[in-house]
Amino acid sequence: MTRTISAEELQKQRPFTEKVRQHYIAFKPDSPPLACVRTFGCQQNVADSERIKGMLAVMGFGFTEEPSEADFILFNTCAVREHACDRVFGNVGALKTIKRRRPHVLIAVCGCMVQQPHVAEKLKKSYPFVGLVFGTHVIHQFPELLYNALQQRRQLSVTPQEDGVIAEGIPVVRDGSFKAWLPIMYGCNNFCTYCIVPYVRGRERSRDPEIILSEARQLVADGYKEITLLGQNVNSYGKGESHGVNFAELLRRINAIPGDFTIRFMTSHPKDATHELFDTIAACEKVSRHFHLPFQSGNNRVLKAMNRGYTREQYLSLVAYARQVIPDISFTSDVIVGFPGETREEFEDTLSLVQEVGFTSLFTFIFSPRVGTPAAAMEDPIPADTKSVWFRELSALQEELSAQRLAVLVGTEQRALLETAAEGYLEARLPDNSIVRVEADPQYIGCYATVRIDDARSWVMHGTVLNIEN
Ligand code: SAM
Ligand code: SF4
Ligand code: F3S
Repeated sequence: MTRTISAEELQKQRPFTEKVRQHYIAFKPDSPPLACVRTFGCQQNVADSERIKGMLAVMGFGFTEEPSEADFILFNTCAVREHACDRVFGNVGALKTIKRRRPHVLIAVCGCMVQQPHVAEKLKKSYPFVGLVFGTHVIHQFPELLYNALQQRRQLSVTPQEDGVIAEGIPVVRDGSFKAWLPIMYGCNNFCTYCIVPYVRGRERSRDPEIILSEARQLVADGYKEITLLGQNVNSYGKGESHGVNFAELLRRINAIPGDFTIRFMTSHPKDATHELFDTIAACEKVSRHFHLPFQSGNNRVLKAMNRGYTREQYLSLVAYARQVIPDISFTSDVIVGFPGETREEFEDTLSLVQEVGFTSLFTFIFSPRVGTPAAAMEDPIPADTKSVWFRELSALQEELSAQRLAVLVGTEQRALLETAAEGYLEARLPDNSIVRVEADPQYIGCYATVRIDDARSWVMHGTVLNIEN
């Protein structure tokens, strides 16, 4: 059952916020303490870090990207694949020298990884210089946890296994000034057999639509140009709640907020993507014509073994319906290569699905066994190097298809958001989520521009800015 943290409960954090502030004023009277917050993982983790930073700011912290300058270092971790976990352990290990040189520094590790008991145990045993470990369900208690960790010499580890909570009213320091993450729900109920997320993020729970709408209105008023609605399965937004607002209705209500902004969302689960949703996107001019719809495998036996809840045919029929009602829609997807027991023939079904749909781009992963998930216990006779060969084959196919797709765009004019400065150029994002390199003054970052696509090589496009909306 969802536990909502009441305003009174959140108020209890106030005295701890003040105590931490005083602690650092006494320790460092002449300058604010510095926090270095690093996020590993998905946008949900980024959104959590933005709230942790919000609480740190109220406690008087400034921010630095440099761990060696920081008084407080926090790693917000991801458990989705082995590689993500190895990276975190490597990075945490490297902090030992900092702790030795500057013993006052408090090192903390939070997020999905530490929700796994074996990881919390390993941090306790092998990384004693980490002062604070806290899980995904206690973020709202962060001021209290931080204060307590500052008071004790041993590692404080708080990782309750909960179904999950919803806490509103936590302050936010956003990483971006024109693109914002807006979580609409937390957790996941789907238990895909390979995936750790439901174990570390708890059960699915949706935020109140009025709270989401007021946050969206504020973002628009603050000048944000792109709002991305977040959830592990946004299509099941509102399920089991009494307010009766489903995801399509939420989109309609956000779309009705006056202003010039784009609505994106991720991630959609094919089993819950409805015709109503595609009809709504077709009717809502602010909703991006890009759909991230992970299919994971093109083979029905593998999909069943993954517990995905749809077939290849159902997936293709969704894509066909979407293209019928939104002709300019583009798709991206996630795919897993080498699920336990996958055969060459079954992998070829993935290749043919990729060919058939024509995705803008793909996020391709080699299966990584996660402790405690059903797939980790399945027999896996396919050797790792065979999986690597398949992975490269799939990547090469997608590269070829992306290049063909981009070539069609050459000569067209597109509305793009000028996003980031790179060496000598700016990166602009097209509605379908692809990137075009243009020459423009970095002062226009955050503005929409009309861009003519001049050239497309593999996945890199070059264009000319024709007009900037300022
Ligand atoms: N909730 C989203 C969904 O259902 O599509 C995505 C969640 S997950 C954070 C992002 C992607 O990681 C998944 O779509 C899947 O392709 C991949 N993934 C998850 N668990 C994995 C595993 N054990 N091994 C390899 N890839 C994995
Ligand atoms: Fe993981 Fe499946 Fe949930 Fe996505 S829907 S987070 S892949 S269990
Ligand atoms: Fe990773 Fe947790 Fe996201 S496991 S992908 S950070 S929900």
